[in-house]
Amino acid sequence: MKKIIAGNWKMFTTLADATVLTESIINGINDIDSEVIIFPPFVWLVPISDIIKKHPTRLKLGAQNMFSKESGAFTGEISPKMLKGLCNYVIIGHSERRYNFHETDTLVNDKLKNALAFGLTPILCIGEQKKTTNNESVTEREVISHLTKSLEGISAENITKIIIAYEPVWAISKPVGPIGVGDAATGEYVEIVINDLRKHLGKLYSEETAKNIRIIYGGSVKAANVKEYITRKGIDGVLVGTASLKPEEFIKICKS
Ligand code: PGA
Repeated sequence: MKKIIAGNWKMFTTLADATVLTESIINGINDIDSEVIIFPPFVWLVPISDIIKKHPTRLKLGAQNMFSKESGAFTGEISPKMLKGLCNYVIIGHSERRYNFHETDTLVNDKLKNALAFGLTPILCIGEQKKTTNNESVTEREVISHLTKSLEGISAENITKIIIAYEPVWAISKPVGPIGVGDAATGEYVEIVINDLRKHLGKLYSEETAKNIRIIYGGSVKAANVKEYITRKGIDGVLVGTASLKPEEFIKICKS
């Protein structure tokens, strides 16, 4: 399975920044075989999609969020129908949406189902808020509950179309300051939690299905620590925030 390297640009970049960043990434990843996806702000999806179309590149495009309805009187929202054809991936339930915009597991579940209905590949984010020294309690509480509730009613056929991003909230970098202010989780910690998530998915679906579900890690990933995650069994890639805004840094991550 190809490793996934996803770059979430959050609410950063001007159109000029976004253009330079995209072109640099396209040029920098020519010879690599990973699944590289960028998630620019909504307003840059059209111009970035045009840039990608002009190049023979493996670079893929995704949206940072979407609403669950197809259309309607929902001022300010973007529907899966609008994203279809423009990009292939969509981040659903990022912790910044859950905690700043009060998105619930029920809404996340609805968004997931609608993203799938429109043929988009969702990246479902789950993760506990507080760091704990006891790995077992991580999987017993919040993160398992997010997983179970977010996936309610999702069929075994559809679950393998979803990428799960385990992002402990405490490990995500602060949006200001230099790379590395976040408290990245250790590879060992991530491996244990992802292993437990896969076991839980095995109970919800089947062990065979669970083996085929792609689970990635996010939280202060940078060129200096990416190998710590991608070399471990069961970790299928990384979701990168801050470090995805610096072309050389992001390309180094892709090349790792
Ligand atoms: P970070 O963000 O890499 O800046 O910690 C990751 C994320 O929020 O997806």
